[in-house]
Amino acid sequence: MDHGDNKHLNNRDSPRAATKEQGAPPLAQQMSHVKQVIGVMSGKGGVGKSLVTALLAVALRRSGRAVGVLDADITGPSIPKMFGLDGRPEGSEMGLFPVTTETGIRVMSLNLLLDHPDDPVIWRGPLLSNTVKQLWEEVVWGDLDALVVDLPPGTSDVPLTVMQSLPVGGLIIVCSPQELAAMIVRKAIRMASMLNVRVLGLVENMTHLVCPHCGKRIDLFGSEQGPNAARAAGIPVLASIPVDPELSTLCDRGEIASYERNPFVGQAQMLERMWAEAARPG
Ligand SMILES: Nc1ncnc2c1ncn2[C@@H]1O[C@H](COP(=O)(O)OP(=O)(O)O)[C@@H](O)[C@H]1O
Ligand SMILES: [Mg+2]
Ligand SMILES: [Zn+2]
Repeated sequence: MDHGDNKHLNNRDSPRAATKEQGAPPLAQQMSHVKQVIGVMSGKGGVGKSLVTALLAVALRRSGRAVGVLDADITGPSIPKMFGLDGRPEGSEMGLFPVTTETGIRVMSLNLLLDHPDDPVIWRGPLLSNTVKQLWEEVVWGDLDALVVDLPPGTSDVPLTVMQSLPVGGLIIVCSPQELAAMIVRKAIRMASMLNVRVLGLVENMTHLVCPHCGKRIDLFGSEQGPNAARAAGIPVLASIPVDPELSTLCDRGEIASYERNPFVGQAQMLERMWAEAARPG
């Protein structure tokens, strides 16, 4: 991390740092108006949390909204790759500017700031949450309808501290049928209530296959654990995503925005309902 731009992540002697110590919000914050911050969480890694973050951002963008993605999964950042981004965020006196995808989604990830994006980042909770806080506070997000946050996996301390460093207004839980999904859903609900944040819905990933020959749906695990736990808590099931080889191909190629079976696209009603729910006071 010796690139010049990184001064925004640690230079305590900068004029902006001085402003901050006097209690004024950082300039980047003054230039950012984000209507909704939506966090995406999961019980563990590898269940498709980043994928769901990306698909949701794409759908919100296609519905005409101004959308950003904050990659808060510092230890496993995969958002830039899914969108095929490798440019450096530009820095200015105001802060760092997000990198924009082809369809106009504004992305910020620590990976975009690292010299070697493939190096693993092994940090502890407090350090992680500080970094995420900076990715929020010192980035010129501009006017956004929604900022979708890819949270670190798990339902314990790390995602909790990260969430506390961001004004998350609503949460989406991602689970897969192989997990103890019911437990994850319950833990996520408990965590959300501790933070006074609403759970907007559950997304189940890798639930089924679609036969390439006849198009028939093949259920893989036959488990309704996650959805049942969600429904019992009054949480809507937003989508069930099949195992689709095209999804992994597009993720690898950085072309996730062009996935044609995006389950959130064309779901105006679902997005509106989610929207209203996140905006509901109390
Ligand atoms: N429904 C799916 N069909 C095919 N591949 C998937 C699916 N969901 C996730 N993947 C692949 O699995 C990998 C892990 O997904 P990711 O969203 O990065 O998980 P997480 O963020 O929860 O760790 C990715 O490389 C992605 O391409
Ligand atoms: Mg991920
Ligand atoms: Zn078939």
